[in-house]
Amino acid sequence: MRPTEWNQQIRKLIADSVIRVTGRSVEISEPVQPPDTVNAEFAYPCFELARLLKMAPAVIARHLVESMTVPSWLGSVEAEGPYINFRLVPACLAESVVTDIFERGDRFGWLETQSGRRVLVEYSSPNTNKPLHLGHFRNNVLGMAVINLLKAQGHDVIPATILNDRGIHICKAMVAYRRFAAGETPGTHGMKGDHFVGELYVRFDQEMRKAPELLEEAHAMLRDWERGDPEVRALWRRMTAWVEEGFEATYRRIGSVFQHVQHESDTYLLGREIILGGVDRGVFERRDDGSLWIDLTADGLDAKALLRSDGTSLYITQDLGVAAERFRHLDIDEAIYVVGSEQIYHFRVLFEIFRKLGYSWADRCRHLSYGMVYLPEGKMKSREGTVVDADDLMDRMRDMSLKVMHESKVSVPDDRRDSIAEAIGLGAIKYYILKFNPQKDIHFDPEQSLAFDGATGAYIQYCHARIRSVIRKASRVIRSNIRFDSLNAPEEIALLRWLLRYPGVLQSAAADLNPSRLAGYLWELARMFNVFYTNHRILDAGSTELIDARLALASAVATVVSGGLTLLGIEPVTEM
Ligand code: ARG
Repeated sequence: MRPTEWNQQIRKLIADSVIRVTGRSVEISEPVQPPDTVNAEFAYPCFELARLLKMAPAVIARHLVESMTVPSWLGSVEAEGPYINFRLVPACLAESVVTDIFERGDRFGWLETQSGRRVLVEYSSPNTNKPLHLGHFRNNVLGMAVINLLKAQGHDVIPATILNDRGIHICKAMVAYRRFAAGETPGTHGMKGDHFVGELYVRFDQEMRKAPELLEEAHAMLRDWERGDPEVRALWRRMTAWVEEGFEATYRRIGSVFQHVQHESDTYLLGREIILGGVDRGVFERRDDGSLWIDLTADGLDAKALLRSDGTSLYITQDLGVAAERFRHLDIDEAIYVVGSEQIYHFRVLFEIFRKLGYSWADRCRHLSYGMVYLPEGKMKSREGTVVDADDLMDRMRDMSLKVMHESKVSVPDDRRDSIAEAIGLGAIKYYILKFNPQKDIHFDPEQSLAFDGATGAYIQYCHARIRSVIRKASRVIRSNIRFDSLNAPEEIALLRWLLRYPGVLQSAAADLNPSRLAGYLWELARMFNVFYTNHRILDAGSTELIDARLALASAVATVVSGGLTLLGIEPVTEM
């Protein structure tokens, strides 16, 4: 029997028993998972039946158990107050879980059938005037994890992004370039393009303090850009290309992948058309200075500007065009926006505008917001006190990880040391980010994130590497004729029960767009394996049957750890 089929079997047992006791055929709901203190895999609460049959829950539970024909795969069925507890025969539990993991490998726990739902997940979506920063890092890590979780539920997921490459921010960097860096390139500075442009953007702000007229110059440039001035456009193309090249390198290193990429420069005009069309239909209003607005005070929101008086577009303008474009051309059922919590209001306004415009898909847009990441004072902030950018952050994590590996005498081959340090360093911060609810603000503690003992990525990666090393030593994992009945130590049963829960964890993590469910689950799994491994031998367990059965169990655990880490975007290191 497959792990996902037990529920069905148990419902049938209960339904048959109800017929025997009452003569009635009733719909039986899913059994639940009992708390750890109960020695059983499944529990059925009798409250619903009690209401239906007008009997006390505890009485029903007793009657049903008495009249149940207990199949051979059940070790025991017991009434406990209003609950019926079902305990599988350990060998059946083991065979079910381990065999399914062997068969499905990395996809154990995934839904096998396609849902038919097409979901676009927009994440990252940077402005093209500076490098990706810590906030983007959280965004990317969360976005990728959610995308993977939704894919595991059989949805057709489109990872998407929009580059905000048009607007006053890039014009500021362009003005600074023209004034203070004309002729220079990232190459002449030996810099990544996004860093080069980012410095110009910072420079603009500094210079503007001395010469406020620079701001008007940037606005004039934006007007020229929107008019299509060839010289301005040429400079803009050059500079945004530098930035995007820089982004690509950062994305590669984080592991971010996009399938649908949009540029605001292509969609803002569509947004503007939509707004002008909305004016004709009375959805939007024109103010005396020529700017266009929507009044949402009746909806508990404010009045919001959609086009400036000089005719240039605002941030929200592009979002109208982007969304219309996506729903029109990609045949999607749903759009999820992964964007920081400082934009909650923006998305409330945006979705309300969709409704006012009468879009059929207005209610199929969701904003997945996430909180801030704070760095420890002094330790990780750059000298100017600003947050470090994502490239810096990853460098520092890799370096710290090298140091920790050295101090804790992790022995890895020299030629793989750097790539393993990278995997552990990035794994540490990714796990730290993902173990919290997305909505929570995080205080990132780099040392703690790299601890080998604690709820860390490194702890889980280490557990995985340890199992792989045992398997390498054994140089075999028997996949058939395993004596599952030899797995009956409490630590083994606990592990098997925990593995049985994996598909449900994936499902709820995806449904709530909350990867922390999976992060917590994997830590617990690694912890349980370590308890098992502290108390029992694998390779010198004694009989060949027991060695093989334990190797099979260990290998199943490793597969789930590695599959789970991969869903979280964390590399399952095989040696450390
Ligand atoms: N580029 C924006 C920023 O850096 C985020 C864009 C979010 N996505 C969107 N469709 N509005 O703040």
